[in-house]
Amino acid sequence: MDILHYQKEFLSYLESKDWIHEPKNLYEPIDYILKLGGKRIRPVLTLMAADIFSSDFKKALPAALAVEVFHNFTLIHDDIMDAAPLRRGKATVHEKWDTNTGILSGDAMLILAYKYFENYDPIIFQKLAKLFSKTALEVCDGQQLDVDFETRNDVTIDEYINMIRLKTSVLVAAALKMGAIVAETNDDNANLIYDFGLNLGLAFQLQDDYLDTFGNPETFGKQIGGDIIENKKTYLYLKAVEVANKNDKGKLKYLYRKKRKDNAIKIADITRIFQLNDIPLLIKEEIKIYTEKAFNTLAEMDIKDTDKQRLKDFGLWLMNRSV
Ligand code: IPE
Ligand code: IPE
Ligand code: MG
Ligand code: MG
Ligand code: MG
Repeated sequence: MDILHYQKEFLSYLESKDWIHEPKNLYEPIDYILKLGGKRIRPVLTLMAADIFSSDFKKALPAALAVEVFHNFTLIHDDIMDAAPLRRGKATVHEKWDTNTGILSGDAMLILAYKYFENYDPIIFQKLAKLFSKTALEVCDGQQLDVDFETRNDVTIDEYINMIRLKTSVLVAAALKMGAIVAETNDDNANLIYDFGLNLGLAFQLQDDYLDTFGNPETFGKQIGGDIIENKKTYLYLKAVEVANKNDKGKLKYLYRKKRKDNAIKIADITRIFQLNDIPLLIKEEIKIYTEKAFNTLAEMDIKDTDKQRLKDFGLWLMNRSV
């Protein structure tokens, strides 16, 4: 079954839920963010993994919804932390309502996410909840490091990779493993699919960082240059500092030292330095390395070749995305 089919199944399950009730100011933003669209990567991965390891992927729908609700909660809070005005081409929750609304609606979503696990029997429930709690805490760790790095000027590429593993990869990996848990496959398979997701997640966040600067503003759905405005020490910046000449390096460090009023000029200057130093090419190479690593994990898995190919196709689709 292809990605579109899982997306469709997931969306009709999502639509069947009635979010909005009193107090409206708590639940309307939840409905807004969840219906705003998005690629639905994580629930698709949960369903796909469940389908690969068992015959009944629909059993994984509540787990898939849990992971998407959690993801959307992290987006609301992330957009507050990153002062982001746009999400999926529309106003972010804190822009449309206000920051307090974003905080509390986000909190409620975290709790709602857990409630979907109540659909499972105790043994599966416990496995899901345990993996989810570990993952959610790691996402917090990653988000804090991401913010800490904004004001540090000695971040290394290794530290950055560890940060994106925490803020992004572990959830991609957990989404897959949750499908494996619901399908009650063996631990080896569940752990291997988790490792596949970890590497895929690293490639995915690198691609997100690339698009943040080099994406098409018409289609990307987020503010282009947002990471530059916020002094995010992404791979683009860290690699540029590594390979640039003394002049460019000085300029990079200077422009990332504090927040600026003239963001348009800052974005233009930084983008030019990235381009002159071939950073788009270098990040693409790095993305390929992690995608390949993910694909190597597949080789070790005890599943049909056609299923390995489906996971591979998903990875390739993800890396060539423009949103
Ligand atoms: C955005 O995730 C946050 C990151 C971890 C990069 P997605 O790119 O999956 O966002 P949506 O859900 O498709 O909008
Ligand atoms: C997001 O990283 C990670 C989480 C939401 C946990 P980003 O801050 O790069 O995500 P976007 O670019 O805003 O979607
Ligand atoms: Mg952000
Ligand atoms: Mg962020
Ligand atoms: Mg980003």
